[in-house]
Amino acid sequence: MPTLALPKFTFSDRARVVGIQLLTGRITGDFDDGQCDGPNRVVRRPGAHLEMTLREWTERYQREIVFTNVRYRGVSTWKNVLDLWVLQEISWETDVECVIEIGVRYGGTSLWLSDTLRNFRGPTGSVISIDLEAPAIQWPANVTFICGDSMAESVVEEARSLSRGRRTMVIADGDHAAAHVLQEMKQYAPLVSTGCYFVVEDGIVDVMHWKEYTPGPMVAAEQFVTENDEFVIDRTREKFLLTYSPRGFLKRIRPSGQTA
Ligand SMILES: C[S@@+](CC[C@H](N)C(=O)[O-])C[C@H]1O[C@@H](n2cnc3c(N)ncnc32)[C@H](O)[C@@H]1O
Repeated sequence: MPTLALPKFTFSDRARVVGIQLLTGRITGDFDDGQCDGPNRVVRRPGAHLEMTLREWTERYQREIVFTNVRYRGVSTWKNVLDLWVLQEISWETDVECVIEIGVRYGGTSLWLSDTLRNFRGPTGSVISIDLEAPAIQWPANVTFICGDSMAESVVEEARSLSRGRRTMVIADGDHAAAHVLQEMKQYAPLVSTGCYFVVEDGIVDVMHWKEYTPGPMVAAEQFVTENDEFVIDRTREKFLLTYSPRGFLKRIRPSGQTA
């Protein structure tokens, strides 16, 4: 049987492959360990990508996944999927009936919350979704969409009246500027039931120092708890380490208006 003569592979070939990857920004996404057995081929070593740091993973998730490649029932969902699991655990453990989601975008998370609460609570589980613009989806019966600025008193009042007397969690995922988030927290915190959570999304921008977005939600959450002793930051909810809400799971430990 004739032997197949493979071309001898040189250091400059390897450098060329890595160079191309750097130019295309694919080096972390390619899961390769850089060994080559031909001019344009990289040998993939299973598991090489596990040597990525959590920071590199987060950069990759932000760059290649979150905005384009996470969907629920086919609808774009701008979430770290590990955080969805944490939200599900919180909803069950705190017996939430009503979730107020500020900032909806395409609506994937709203649909996921709608299904999750209906599964847990039956017909009483519902979602109040707020955004400046309505997404192009069909809302399920247990979602009320409020179109408007989350800060507008009429919007806060509608959310308040829809959630009154129900175990309520708030998720802030709208405008992420620290000053905006802090103000939003002051307006919506009274709607959160005792034992339930105010979830401040995307504090990851502060940890990652993504300058165009900072100071962001984590700064607001930390400031909020220095001024408000009704909430504590529950870091046990960051158990997966990879969260977009560092210091963003705030638990109400005493009723609104009750001082320590
Ligand atoms: C990060 S996206 C929300 C992603 C969504 N929660 C998800 O998980 O897929 C932010 C959304 O907040 C909305 N938004 C920004 N500022 C707002 C405001 N002041 N009031 C209401 N919605 C706002 C934007 O229109 C945008 O759709």
